Order: sequence, then structure tokens, then C-alpha cells
Amino acid sequence: MAKLFTPFSIGSLTLRNRIVIAPMCQYSAVDGCMTDWHLIHLGHLALSGAAFLMIEATAVLPEGRISYADVGLWSDEAEAAMARVVSSIRRYSDIPIGVQLAHAGRKGSTDLPWKGGAHIPSGIMNGWQTWAPSPLPFSAGDQAPAALDHQGLARVRQAFVDAAKRARRIGLQAIQLHGAHGYLLHQFLSPLSNRRDDQYGGALEGRMRFPIEVFEAVRAAVPDIPVTVRVSGTDWASQGGWDLTQTVQFARELQARGCDGIHVSSGGLTPEQQIPVGPSYQVPLARGVKQATGIPVIAVGLITGYEQAEAIVGTGDADLVALARGILYDPRWPWHAAAHFGAHVTAPDPYLRSQPRQYPHLFGTYDD
Ligand SMILES: Cc1cc2nc3c(=O)[nH]c(=O)nc-3n(C[C@H](O)[C@H](O)[C@H](O)COP(=O)(O)O)c2cc1C
Repeated sequence: MAKLFTPFSIGSLTLRNRIVIAPMCQYSAVDGCMTDWHLIHLGHLALSGAAFLMIEATAVLPEGRISYADVGLWSDEAEAAMARVVSSIRRYSDIPIGVQLAHAGRKGSTDLPWKGGAHIPSGIMNGWQTWAPSPLPFSAGDQAPAALDHQGLARVRQAFVDAAKRARRIGLQAIQLHGAHGYLLHQFLSPLSNRRDDQYGGALEGRMRFPIEVFEAVRAAVPDIPVTVRVSGTDWASQGGWDLTQTVQFARELQARGCDGIHVSSGGLTPEQQIPVGPSYQVPLARGVKQATGIPVIAVGLITGYEQAEAIVGTGDADLVALARGILYDPRWPWHAAAHFGAHVTAPDPYLRSQPRQYPHLFGTYDD
């Protein structure tokens, strides 16, 4: 039996197998509201056979969006739009669904990726003043973010809490805090973007303070569903950046406060990063967190092969594997992986006739 197709519990949630769908921004929302695109996109992924579906980075405040077309969860309208998508999917799939809550900080106010993704200064259409721990732009030449004061921090923290409650209310089954890829919480963690001289900067303890406060507040607001955190295991900076040692310390602090899992990605904080991209390139970071803490760990990044995925969970480097580009390329990847290992997946009733002759037990006909 392939370990990839064994169940795994994350907090109160039991997953059917070890394959999860990573959050993927679609830049297709209007004023933070999901559209029909999200129903099509998330709907088709819900039928993939994966064990869990994570909704894209969802801004907790309008100025916390990456672009003007990001999904949000800061208003009744945005909540209703997401509720429509989630309840439509629910009618046809029982895949557990969670949402990644995010604030882009200094990386906000950009154009859409397929329009070049450039930073849009405030005062220009679709642009706004961004906020960050320190007034340092991501790229030289970008408009500098404004530094969050204590009132601003309280507003952001409360926005995470309010969005988590909205998510819980519309039936989402897990929350992930986006602490990776150079967005606001990561900007607090990394010494490259956090130059504050108050209690939210300086040594590691100070830089972790705001992300931990946000985690504690969200954890308390939704005590009955899993709360995980996505981190960048390293900034891939030549010097002075966030690294695995600090990531492990952060994971320990989160674990002590009831975090249900750490999703280990990397990079995104500085344009100077040098990433050794290749198959499984982030798995050593996941392994580092797993070995040091024992907390449930999700590995991600160029995991495309069935045996590759099996090796990651089989060796215990991580408990779950997440797929992003690979599952857009092959939305039935979990079906194909199950066929490869002689395992089972669930398929929607109208598709049951598609079970290939050579895999007569693929859809869980447990008569063998
Ligand atoms: C279209 C697209 C959108 C993404 N959006 C998000 C996002 O909303 N939140 C996030 O944490 N990562 C996001 N990512 C990163 C993925 O979740 C994933 O970590 C990365 O693509 C590496 O995994 P892969 O090699 O399987 O694609 C995105 C990636 C892609 C390709």
C-alpha cells in the first residue's frame, strides 16, 4: 500500500490521502468577490481526487491584496460570493476546503501577472498606498510602503480574525495564514524587510511577535477548525535573511500555541534571491521543520512524479505533499497516481463510467 494513499489527520480533519491542492491566486475577482471563474477553477479541482483543497491567498483588507483582482474576505459581499462558490462545490464534492488568509503588505498594488505584474503607485488607477513593517519597497523604484503603527497593527490583526470568522461561517474547514513568499507576515519575520526599532522588530523574538499575535488571535477565533501557517523556509538571500534555523524556531512557537501544521515553501521576500530550482527543491526545508518539531508538515514545490511524492511521505520528510502547477497541468493527477499504485480515489457519480478497464478498482470498488 502506497503511503500516499493512506489517511492523515490534521487537527480535527481527517484527510483521505496525502495529496493536497496548494493555494493558487487567480486574479479573477471583482472588488474581492469571487466570480464564475472561481466556481469553474475550484470546482474542477474539487473533482481531482486530492484530499484537500486550499482556496487562494484571500486578502483580509482591500489594501492587503496583491492586485486589484484578488479575492478578499473583508466584506459581506465578498463573503456571500465565496459562500456561493463553496456551497455549489459542496453539492457535488465532499473534499475538505480551506482558505489561505493573506495580507500582501509591501508586495500589494500590482498589475495582473499576465499584464506584467508591475507595481502600481497610489493615485493611479488600480493602485493604492501599501503598508509594511518598515518603509522599504520590495524593488528599488517601487513606491515605498508606509510603516504600520500600533493602531495599524491592531487593524490588520482584527482583519485576520474577522476574515477567519467569515470563513468559518460559510463552512470552510481550515484556515491557513500566509506567512510566506514575502507577504506581510513574512515581511515582519525577515530582517531584510523588518527594520523596526520597537517590540515588533530587532531580534528574532521581536520579528516573530506580530505573526504570532495574528496566529493567536485567529486560533482563538476559530477554535474548532485546523489553523496552519505557510512559511518560507528561507529567503534564499546571500546574507542576512530569514533561514531554516529561524523557521524552526517560529514553527516551535506556533506549535506551542496550537498550530495544526506548517506548510513549507520558500523565497519571495527579496528580488536578490538565488533559488536552486529543481524537483523537490523545498523538501529539505520541510524535512528540517518536521525533524525538529514533529508537527504535521506539508511539502511543496516541483513535486510532479508519483514515486517522487510517495518518497516524500514514505520517508517521513513531510506528512502531505501539495501540488500547484502540476495539478493545473493534470487535474486528475491523484487519479493517475492512485492507478499507478493500485490505490483508490473517489470519483463523482456521473464520472463512474470513466474508470479504465485496466484499473477495475480505482474508484474504490472494494470487492478484491
Ligand atoms: C497560478 C499560481 C498561483 C499561486 N498563488 C499562490 C497563493 O495564492 N498562495 C501561495 O501561498 N502560493 C501561491 N502559489 C505558489 C504555489 O502554491 C506553490 O507553492 C508553487 O507553485 C510551487 O508548487 P508547484 O511546483 O507544485 O507549482 C501560486 C502558484 C501558482 C502557479
